[in-house]
Parts: sequence; C-alpha cells; structure tokens
Amino acid sequence: MSQPTTTQPTAVITGGSRGIGLAAAQRLLADGFSVVVLSRPTSTDPDFTELVESGAITFVAGDIASAEARAELVETALEKHGRIDLLFNNAGMAPLTRLDILDMTEESYDRVMDVNLRAPMFLTQRVARVMIEQEPLEGRPPGMIVNTGSASANFVSTNRGEYCLSKAGVSMMTKLFAVRLAPHGIPVFEVSPGVIKTEMTKVVTEKYDTYIAEGHIPVPRWGMPADVAEAVALLAEGRLAYSTGDIIYVDGGMRIPVL
Ligand SMILES: NC(=O)c1ccc[n+]([C@@H]2O[C@H](COP(=O)([O-])OP(=O)(O)OC[C@H]3O[C@@H](n4cnc5c(N)ncnc54)[C@H](OP(=O)(O)O)[C@@H]3O)[C@@H](O)[C@H]2O)c1
Repeated sequence: MSQPTTTQPTAVITGGSRGIGLAAAQRLLADGFSVVVLSRPTSTDPDFTELVESGAITFVAGDIASAEARAELVETALEKHGRIDLLFNNAGMAPLTRLDILDMTEESYDRVMDVNLRAPMFLTQRVARVMIEQEPLEGRPPGMIVNTGSASANFVSTNRGEYCLSKAGVSMMTKLFAVRLAPHGIPVFEVSPGVIKTEMTKVVTEKYDTYIAEGHIPVPRWGMPADVAEAVALLAEGRLAYSTGDIIYVDGGMRIPVL
C-alpha cells in the first residue's frame, strides 16, 4: 500500500462536473488539495472544462453506478497522488420522471438507489480500505469521508419517493461507516443540503421560489453550491478530532419545525 510521498492531501469527489461537486472541487483546490473528480463525460460547464483542460484537476469519466468506474476512480487517484485523504460522495440524481409513489416504477427506483446509495456505499468500502492502510499526513486524520444527504431524508415528497428513500439510506450509511472507521481514526460526516440552486433544482425553480417567499426557510434565500462547499471545506480541515457521524445541515434552518 502506498505511503505518502507528498504533504498535499488528495480529495476524490464524485459528481464534480457542476453544481455542488464543482463548487467543492474549486474550494478544496483553493485549500491546497489535489482533486480527482468522477462524473459522466457530458459536462458543458465552462468552469469545469477549464479546470480539466488546465490540468488543475484530474477527471475520470464514468458512471458512478458502475463498479468498474469506481475502481478506475480509486486507481487513478492512487496512481496520480499516492493517497486519498478525503472522499466526498456527492454524485446524485433525482428521478428522471417525478411520479406519485403509487405509480413509481421499479426501473426508476433501481436507478436512483444505484446512483444515490449503492454507488457511494461500495465506493466508500473501497476507499476506506485504502485509508485504513495509508499513513496520515502530518496534522491530518488518515482519511475522511463526507457523504451527501438531503433534506429529503426527512421531508416527504410523494412524487419522488425513491430519492427520499435513497437519502434516508445515506444517513444510515454515514452512521455505519462512522462506527466502523472510528477505531482507525477516520471520521465520517454528512452534509445535508436544503434547497440549493443547481441543475437538479432547475425544474422546480418556481416551486422553491414560492416556498422561500412564503417564509418556510428561516434564512430566506436559495442555498448556493458554495454554501455546501464551505461546509465540506470546513470538515475537510480535519480539526474535529472527537466528532464523527455528524450531519452538517446546509439548509438555511428549513428543518426546524416552526409554528
Ligand atoms: N440541489 C439541491 O437542492 C440538493 C439538495 C439536497 C441534496 N442534494 C444532493 O447534492 C448532490 C449534488 O447535487 P447537485 O444539486 O449539485 O446536482 P447536479 O447539479 O445535478 O450535479 C450532480 C452531479 O452528479 C453527477 N452525476 C449524476 N449522476 C451521475 C452518475 N450516474 N455517475 C457519475 N456522476 C453522476 C453529475 O454529472 P453528470 O450528470 O454529468 O454525470 C453532476 O456532476 C446530490 O447528491 C444531490 O442529491 C442537492
């Protein structure tokens, strides 16, 4: 197993080609991480293209649902940088068609669960084995996992039940790995975004504009990808030495029941 040849930590980010993942890639780069990103080769985001073409980040093209793509991601990070200090499980999808739970198809359920839950579960398993074996960089834990949950782990949307189920599963995954990896000094956290302005929420812009205008979110605005990236960067500093399994909500307080 590789030993550190560098003092620079390496971050692996799934779904870093736009939205929250891209903001995290930019933020972690600025914080001195080497960054390796996986997403499908469909991105048209000029900021992402710039980062890849300039060599600032390493891009692995693939579908996170594929075990081969996940293996290639880990191998590429190790070949290029010799270690993985942070895994940010960010790639995720909403159902391609929002259908009432009484009409949800098994195909949609399988695809959403594959991408949002099975993929991060088995990628984390693979990366955790690397982290357990590697020597920590000075002043850092030997590794860290940050998962992406969602307000939808707790809020019910009956027209995208498969998404809610997948994100509730991510929360348990966070706890499972937190406990399993704690003896190895590897913390596992979850960021739980609320309503964030990205490609994913474009189709429901009007709905969330109204939701915010009606005062349902105490911080009365859309969250931005940089808001979530900031939380990831904060965790990635690795200074919360006696914490693991925690959820950092990036939701403007929308989870707080208000009467
Ligand atoms: N936006 C929100 O309000 C919100 C709220 C709560 C949680 N989240 C979660 O935050 C994460 C990021 O979401 P976002 O809002 O930034 O969405 P986004 O703009 O749609 O970005 C999703 C990212 O994941 C990648 N991705 C999707 N399916 C993939 C696959 N099968 N294989 C590899 N990469 C894949 C996308 O790239 P390609 O499609 O090009 O592969 C893209 O880079 C997701 O887990 C989402 O569930 C978002």
